[in-house]
Amino acid sequence: MEKVAVIYFLVQGHTRQVAQAVVDGAKSVAGTDVSLLEIVGSDIKEGRWSNESITNTCNAADAIVFGTPTYMGDTSAQVKAFIDACSEIWMKQGWKDKFAAGFTHSGGLSGDKLNTLQSLWTNAMQHSMIWISLGELVEGTGTENVNRLSSFAGAMAQTTYGQNDCNPGDLKTAHKLGARVATVLSRLK
Ligand SMILES: Cc1cc2nc3c(=O)[nH]c(=O)nc-3n(C[C@H](O)[C@H](O)[C@H](O)COP(=O)(O)O)c2cc1C
Repeated sequence: MEKVAVIYFLVQGHTRQVAQAVVDGAKSVAGTDVSLLEIVGSDIKEGRWSNESITNTCNAADAIVFGTPTYMGDTSAQVKAFIDACSEIWMKQGWKDKFAAGFTHSGGLSGDKLNTLQSLWTNAMQHSMIWISLGELVEGTGTENVNRLSSFAGAMAQTTYGQNDCNPGDLKTAHKLGARVATVLSRLK
C-alpha cells in the first residue's frame, strides 16, 4: 500500500478544509493509505518543533504533501519551525526520492501565495524529493472552478475575510492534487 502523509498548520480552519480535500483525493485512489498530520504551536518549544510520531509518519511515507496558510507572503512560522526541525532528516537525506507536493490558503486573491509554494518546493528540493505539480488547467475564474487561481506549482485556495467555508472550486482543486499524488505513486508501483 502506498503511503501519503499530508501535513499542515492552521489557525481558523480553512487550511484544514483544504488539507482534508487533499486527503480525500488521495484516498480516492485504491491502495493508498493517507495520514493527516497537524503542526501545532504546542509542539514548538523555545522555537524548536518536535513531534516524534509525526516525524515517524513522514519518514514512512512515500509522498509528503505540505500545506500552510500564507502569512506575510510565505509559510507560517509554525510550518517553518517544522521545516527547520526536519533539517536533521536533511543531513542524512532521509527523504531522498520521496514525492512531495504543496498547497496554501490565504485571504488575498494573490496574497503572494506563489512565494509560499516556492518555499515549500525549495524545502522539498533540499531534501532531494520529487515535486508533483498540480496538473490541472484553469477551468475558469469562478469560485466553483478548478484551479481558478491559475496555480501550477501546487493547489491554491482563497477565502475572503469573514468567509467560513472554502470555495468549492478550491476544494475540488485540492482533491485533484491529492488524487494526482496517489495516482503517481500507484503508477510507479
Ligand atoms: C500574520 C498573518 C499574515 C497574513 N499574511 C497574508 C498574506 O501575506 N497574504 C494573504 O493573502 N493573506 C494573509 N493572511 C491571511 C491568512 O492567509 C488567512 O488568515 C489564513 O490563510 C487562514 O487560514 P486558516 O483558517 O487555516 O488559519 C495573513 C494572516 C495572518 C494572521
